[in-house]
Amino acid sequence: MALLFSARYEDSERWHQALVAELGDLDFRLWTPDGANIGDPADIEFVLAWGPKKGAFKEFPNLKAIFCLGAGVDHLISRDLPDGVPVVRLVDPGLTRGMREYVIYWTLHYHRRFKEYADSAAAGEWRQLPQADTRKRRVGILGLGVLGADAAAHLCALEFDVAGWSRSAKALDGIESFHGTDGLAAFLARTEILVNLLPLTPETTGIINAENLSQLPKGAVVINAARGPHVVDDDLIRALDDGHIAAATLDVFHTEPLPADHPFWAHPKINITPHAASLTVQETAAVAIADNIRRIRAGEPPAPIVDPETGY
Ligand code: NAP
Ligand code: GLV
Repeated sequence: MALLFSARYEDSERWHQALVAELGDLDFRLWTPDGANIGDPADIEFVLAWGPKKGAFKEFPNLKAIFCLGAGVDHLISRDLPDGVPVVRLVDPGLTRGMREYVIYWTLHYHRRFKEYADSAAAGEWRQLPQADTRKRRVGILGLGVLGADAAAHLCALEFDVAGWSRSAKALDGIESFHGTDGLAAFLARTEILVNLLPLTPETTGIINAENLSQLPKGAVVINAARGPHVVDDDLIRALDDGHIAAATLDVFHTEPLPADHPFWAHPKINITPHAASLTVQETAAVAIADNIRRIRAGEPPAPIVDPETGY
């Protein structure tokens, strides 16, 4: 069995060691642009990838699974994949924890008005602000999957008033569920802090647009921790400039790294993080990947497999 690694080469040795720790000795090959280390393509049973070049998978006749190195698979499934080979998404407690922390941090940042306190402190000004009731602060999460449901549950534990929007209806303790195109307007109308944790698909591309932003209450804030193309950049800037949206935190962008001349950088109401809401941690991710490799070897299907119909 050979496993082919196709992602950031500087991380490859750490991945190799993390997988060896889980699976024992492993024929780990690095997929360099010249393909020099692949060896016999018929040896390759598993590929670990983020976004290899289009059509590249076709050359492996014995491929059993493609493991995505992240939770989002948009960059991978646009790559013309071989029929019948499962693409396995990353579900890993390290990734989930990281996203939970990011969502809680920025929700508290806006809820408790920490930017205003930082500005006051910078001006040497002692000024207390009224403290809002957490139980009345309405947080809405676009996407109630692995990451969205986890963040929702932890915000709920902090006593926020939490709702989520998904394709199918959910029954999650303490969380109001909205679903489908018909449920979106009511979800937006009740949401003061909007958190995006949707996968990027043809249906969700551009979902943070002028029309949907206008349905949020005046003064709402947006936290996008999913993918850049969920946002129509000009629409968001207009909504911030006209004051309907009070602020935004953006972790992901149409082009990454965010180009130096992009207006987001200098916008006073935008906080930027460099696609770091939650990074894949090799050691915890390797546990999930190794578990799936063992399942496949035992003749069981890996999980979760990306549905080619929905694209997530
Ligand atoms: P997931 O488990 O697949 O959850 C996706 C959720 O979105 C599900 O609740 C799904 O509804 C909902 N959804 C999908 N299409 C929809 C549509 N058209 N309308 C309404 N709801 C829709 O994914 P996840 O593991 O939580 O990850 C979510 C995303 O986070 C990833 O795709 C990735 O883009 C992003 N991410 C970003 C970072 C970062 O550092 N910035 C890190 C990790 C992940 P159903 O439940 O009904 O299927
Ligand atoms: C990161 O963006 C991921 O999808 O895991």
